[in-house]
Amino acid sequence: MNSFTTSALTPAFPVLPRTGLETRLAARPDGFPTPAHFRTVTTAVAAPAPGQVLVRNLFMSLDPGMLLLMSGGSHLPMPRYEVGEVMYGDAVGEVVASADPTLAEGDLVTHRLGWREYAVAGAETFRRVDERAYPSPSMHLGFGLVAYVGLMEAAGLQPGDTVFVSSAAGATGGLAGQIARLKGAARVIGSAGSPEKVAHLTGVLGFDAAFDYHDGPVVDRLHAAAPDGIDVYFDNVGGEQLRAAIEVMNVHGRIAVCGALNRQRAGRPDDGPGDLLSVLGKRLTIRGFTLFDHLDLAPEFGAQFRGWLREGSLVYDETVVDGLPSAPRALLDLVGGRYTGKTVVRLAGAAG
Ligand SMILES: NC(=O)c1ccc[n+]([C@@H]2O[C@H](COP(=O)([O-])OP(=O)(O)OC[C@H]3O[C@@H](n4cnc5c(N)ncnc54)[C@H](OP(=O)(O)O)[C@@H]3O)[C@@H](O)[C@H]2O)c1
Repeated sequence: MNSFTTSALTPAFPVLPRTGLETRLAARPDGFPTPAHFRTVTTAVAAPAPGQVLVRNLFMSLDPGMLLLMSGGSHLPMPRYEVGEVMYGDAVGEVVASADPTLAEGDLVTHRLGWREYAVAGAETFRRVDERAYPSPSMHLGFGLVAYVGLMEAAGLQPGDTVFVSSAAGATGGLAGQIARLKGAARVIGSAGSPEKVAHLTGVLGFDAAFDYHDGPVVDRLHAAAPDGIDVYFDNVGGEQLRAAIEVMNVHGRIAVCGALNRQRAGRPDDGPGDLLSVLGKRLTIRGFTLFDHLDLAPEFGAQFRGWLREGSLVYDETVVDGLPSAPRALLDLVGGRYTGKTVVRLAGAAG
């Protein structure tokens, strides 16, 4: 049996960081936030008490869903951010001091205590991950499992399906399109917000067709890209693209509602799917999902994902932003359309 006392442990980690940065919600936004709604401050780093570990965060994830947690009332199955309190989100870090037998100094862990350079909490808060699984620890923050759950569980993807993905150059969409192809989709169509992103979809990520959703009515663009209709829509956006997808959907089509970027960018509720007569007439399924209900699929997905990466059949696209002080602006820029792939913030070893 292991037994620990604070005094016995003290000599094991004599050089602990004294301070670190953390970002708090400064005010609750009414509409789309600005950098003034965040406050990044220096705080003291506590030594771990018995049962706790201290983790130095290497990377944290930026997720458009954070905007909903800032504004509150999102119906998401997670607590909203509170004014004056440090925000949270996915992060990957390295244990720098452990007062619990289940984790050791040097272990790589994932957890939900992002938006801070150092996290100290009970050992059960952290999940040890394999440091050799990916070329960069940041890839543990990828949204591949979100894409997989949406396609396989929510939409029931079948070989031969024609699949449409919105925000297809983003973290989830880029992987949803590629995984759909790897799982046997006959045709994969993506939409994105600029000609450069459209070229990226067909030229780099292997989409069969892509269009810029600013180029005229989406329903016309979708009809042109999918003359035989679509069977599965992976919806990151809502709004006009959801209404267009319902219009172009084949009988018994399935829509997986993953995100609400239209609402997240506007900072106010979306107009929604519109007239539901087509849903009735075509016997469509519209199903919302969250990753948290399907975490049991992580091992099954992880094995396939690493295989695809190894054999070079999947491109992993990532944007890295340096330093916690840059994170608030980067979150707003992410939803504004500045980046492609998964956007992460490098917290350790960042310049400036
Ligand atoms: N269900 C779940 O469990 C789950 C898990 C993770 C994330 N999500 C949600 O999934 C969605 C995608 O997340 P992500 O991290 O992959 O984001 P992302 O696609 O990487 O994010 C940002 C992109 O949103 C696009 N965008 C913003 N407003 C738009 C609009 N009105 N219409 C079309 N595109 C718009 C922008 O690209 P353009 O240049 O193309 O406009 C931008 O590149 C988000 O809503 C997120 O909250 C859900």
